[in-house]
Amino acid sequence: MTTAAEPQSLLLQMLDPAVRADPYPLYGRIRAQGPLQLPDNNLAVFSSFADCDEVLRHPAAASDRLKSTVAQRQIANDPEGTAARPVGPPGFLFLDPPDHTRLRRLVSKAFVPKVVKALEPEIASLVDVLLAEADGSFDAISGLAYPLPVAVICRLLGVPLEDEPEFSAASGLLAQSLDPFLTVTGSAGSGFEERMQAAAWLRDYLRELVARRRRDPGGDLMSGLIAVEESGDQLTEDEIIATCNLLLVAGHETTVNLIANATLALLRSPEQWTALAADPGRAAAVIEETLRYDPPVQLIGRVAGEDMTVGSLTLPKGDSILLLLAAAHRDPDAFDRPDEFDPDRAAIRHLGFGKGPHFCIGAPLARLEATVALTALTSRFPNAALAGEPQYKQNATLRGMSKLPISL
Ligand code: HEM
Repeated sequence: MTTAAEPQSLLLQMLDPAVRADPYPLYGRIRAQGPLQLPDNNLAVFSSFADCDEVLRHPAAASDRLKSTVAQRQIANDPEGTAARPVGPPGFLFLDPPDHTRLRRLVSKAFVPKVVKALEPEIASLVDVLLAEADGSFDAISGLAYPLPVAVICRLLGVPLEDEPEFSAASGLLAQSLDPFLTVTGSAGSGFEERMQAAAWLRDYLRELVARRRRDPGGDLMSGLIAVEESGDQLTEDEIIATCNLLLVAGHETTVNLIANATLALLRSPEQWTALAADPGRAAAVIEETLRYDPPVQLIGRVAGEDMTVGSLTLPKGDSILLLLAAAHRDPDAFDRPDEFDPDRAAIRHLGFGKGPHFCIGAPLARLEATVALTALTSRFPNAALAGEPQYKQNATLRGMSKLPISL
């Protein structure tokens, strides 16, 4: 039997940057407690594979955070409601039907596997250019894992890559706003003002770019959305901005961590590095196992849109829900040897791209970028080795490294 204080303190530890390099023992302790219910926070936390999977498939699980009791209370107490409203990335990730369905449909065509596959030559030449500059000591983040997905998403959206230094800072701050400080502690966490400013800056930047593309359209996704807006009443300018914002941040803050986490896992199992160097056909298994073993998106949220029963818990409507995907992926009831990185395990399952109506729209693109990057890196540098400890950013949700030094 757990006391009320224990779950809260475990969750606070999860938000502490001190655990970022290896949060998995803590996730194990949380999972061992079973699902957690914190009635004072109107919060339930799930960490087993079966429970996370069930919530993602549950028809009453909503994504609009403003439906939560905590957000409603904040809005009631603060007429401006700024503390409760998501500062970003907004967009259809945080919407429910019918708006979610309408907006997702408008962009999903650009990300289907066939369309994405056509980008392969361009992705391969970007990787060539990046690796041509690599010398003996190489930071896998700034040298490959970050610039590749950023160049690709900018190209797709029609965002000038030369503006990147400006919006990368804003994107990084918005990624931090996904950490569940409000849900766990009842307050938005330090740096809230700075994140609000970054959100406002990025929205203004995108609004200006939309105006430019309106005058001078290209073959990019933003121009495509503008054409849809101008042809009828399917979406508004604010929705174009919110959608581009979501895609830009998703493109900046996720695939970088997939490429980096896979690189680190392979370097820590040198026989796996060598095996991939010799056989590029192993890339798909390496990538799926990385998405299980060390997922770039460690946790996601939902709100009980109605009273819900999940596993052994009954949740009242309005409760916030945290799904600790990274804990679920190490669940011994779902996986043999869960703490082992083993791309050869049979039928790798994971929730790394989510599940159900919000399943990641960028999954084919992320998989393709990671395949090209990892096969090129291992085959060109079959003797690469770790050259120091990786350093981590403070983010808990979009957990990732800021530096991964390797010797080539
Ligand atoms: C390895 C890289 C990536 C990972 C691990 C990842 C993970 C996820 C996860 C877990 C979700 C579901 C969130 C939820 O259910 O609440 C999601 C949704 C989403 N992802 Fe990704 N993502 C990645 C790359 C990308 C890329 C490259 C893009 C686009 C350029 C993208 C765009 C989106 C969008 C738009 C959604 C919202 C889908 C919806 O609400 O219908 N993602 N992603």
